[in-house]
Amino acid sequence: MKKAIIVGATSGIGKGLALKLANNDYDVGITGRRTELLRELKSQKPNSFHTKTFDITDSNSIVENLEALTEELGGLDLIIISSGTGDLNEKLDFEIEKQTIETNVTGFTCIANWAFNYFEKQESGHIVAISSVGGLRGSKIAPAYNATKAFQINYLEGLRQKATKLKTKIFISDIRPGFVDTAMAKGEGQFWVSTVDKASHQIVEAIKKKKKITYVTKRWKLIGVILKRIPRQMYDRM
Ligand SMILES: NC(=O)c1ccc[n+]([C@@H]2O[C@H](COP(=O)([O-])OP(=O)(O)OC[C@H]3O[C@@H](n4cnc5c(N)ncnc54)[C@H](OP(=O)(O)O)[C@@H]3O)[C@@H](O)[C@H]2O)c1
Repeated sequence: MKKAIIVGATSGIGKGLALKLANNDYDVGITGRRTELLRELKSQKPNSFHTKTFDITDSNSIVENLEALTEELGGLDLIIISSGTGDLNEKLDFEIEKQTIETNVTGFTCIANWAFNYFEKQESGHIVAISSVGGLRGSKIAPAYNATKAFQINYLEGLRQKATKLKTKIFISDIRPGFVDTAMAKGEGQFWVSTVDKASHQIVEAIKKKKKITYVTKRWKLIGVILKRIPRQMYDRM
């Protein structure tokens, strides 16, 4: 049986992926801050799920929690970093920006570092992170969110380059959703909003194929191409 950890599995995409992996014969370690939601998820498949409550903004406790969960699982083949936060912040409230950076940059990096080092010793493994189409350009309404997602995209590219140079069987997958119907999808003018079920299905298919970059849903790739091509002068006025 394969072993996976999903960081940020209490709700939304992470929870959807946890259920799909459990149905695909994975033993799954599920994490988040909301213990009650982890318990509720575990009760749906008690033999498949192992829970650990921790806050990824407390980077001193991340490694010990990941190690304890890996020991409980009896190994690790796959880690999915689905934890993330972000809010609309037109008034530039620094507390919102700080929380976003501590979660999406510092916490994310700590998890990714631990996982890469673990997989390097093991000479195999798969790191999957849920970044965002938003990471392709800046945002006037959520500057830290888009900037932290850009960090994740760039960081994952660096890890992929490192894995390739090392000639190990470490795979790095960058999953870039557009809008998915979760608590995270905020703001007006949303379109092509996917259900969690559809998004999770497409992500699991991408994981099976060890895809490097995946837009979710698939047609968001078009938005990605357009976003990257909008000239700066035009983008600044949008
Ligand atoms: N929904 C969208 O439209 C969309 C679009 C693009 C990208 N994404 C990305 O998809 C990922 C999953 O988000 P979602 O849409 O599924 O939203 P969600 O339902 O709010 O899920 C976020 C998950 O992250 C965990 N989390 C947040 N802060 C944490 C912290 N400090 N420590 C530990 N866990 C933390 C939450 O668990 P606890 O609250 O229990 O800690 C929860 O399980 C995020 O990285 C998000 O940026 C979402």
